[in-house]
Amino acid sequence: MKTLKSALLGAAALLPAAAHAGELNLICSADVVICEALVGAFEEGHPDIDVNMVRLSSGEAYAKVRAEARNPQTDLWWGGTGDPHLQAAHDGLSAEYSSPMLGELQDWARGQAETSDFHTVGVYSGALGWGYNTEILAGKGIDPPACWADLLDPALKGEIQIADPNSSGTAYTTLATLVQLMGEDEAFDFLRQMHANVSQYTKSGSAPVKAAARGETGLGIVFQHDAVSQAVAGFPIAVVAPCEGTGYEIGSMSLIDGALNEEEAKTFYDWVLTAEAQNLMPGAGSFQIPSNRAATPPAEAPDLSEIKLIDYDFAEFGSAERRKALLARWDREIGSLPLE
Ligand code: G6P
Repeated sequence: MKTLKSALLGAAALLPAAAHAGELNLICSADVVICEALVGAFEEGHPDIDVNMVRLSSGEAYAKVRAEARNPQTDLWWGGTGDPHLQAAHDGLSAEYSSPMLGELQDWARGQAETSDFHTVGVYSGALGWGYNTEILAGKGIDPPACWADLLDPALKGEIQIADPNSSGTAYTTLATLVQLMGEDEAFDFLRQMHANVSQYTKSGSAPVKAAARGETGLGIVFQHDAVSQAVAGFPIAVVAPCEGTGYEIGSMSLIDGALNEEEAKTFYDWVLTAEAQNLMPGAGSFQIPSNRAATPPAEAPDLSEIKLIDYDFAEFGSAERRKALLARWDREIGSLPLE
């Protein structure tokens, strides 16, 4: 015999489906903690939109968006270094969008939009450097490295971790920074010599300093704000801005061309550029400089005006030809070397 409940359920099945809630398929390329915090806050303010978020490193995100070119499954890509976002713009993978929020942004964030004919935009920035475990280096009697050149010290053998630039925007920024500081051949010479000190090329950019925080390695080459997060969390991590000068990222965001949920994607896009959304970042351990001029730069964030920054050429190093060629050379000359 049919119960009342099963009868009701059967009847409900015959009714037309309730108005479909909005959906948004988001790739997030910053740290998973801030990714989840932003999605949580957005869904709270927009209960009609369900966000499906996947965290992927910048290079992996680019590869996914490229693989989906004919049948986009992703609507919006937030965060991660700007170079692969610029490459995606060049490849026609992202859509042109001029957010009404552009007027509230810092020049460097709007500049990223202008460079790409409004196919991507800056959401945060931060300078490259490294974090080292003060206890490990002191325990081994190693002088803390202050300059890129110091990373070749044989005392650091097996103590350095850095990500693989194919998957990680952090590591690609390092590669491009060294090329701009030294010249391309000299940068590859440097990386070959540094390889003797590297124990692992990780997939994600911030993994090396997380490993240093846990005492698994002496030093991780990362964005300085990622080292700051570990220090703020109480780990014995010191943050270094390399003495010769360093590069920086313009963390970016792109709306995907042909997005199935374009309206929802634009709603998130405009919201995440507000000062209110960007002010959520420090609470989630993300200490980048926000792109909205009215957002408060976190007190813990390394002060970019006090760091010797190179004049990073985003257009050149985000161009498809340069990025592809540098990654291919890295694979041939560095990635193929055995790890000891
Ligand atoms: C960390 C940093 C971000 C950066 C990202 C790049 O999450 O906090 O500022 O954009 O790394 O990640 P990736 O794994 O591509 O190096």
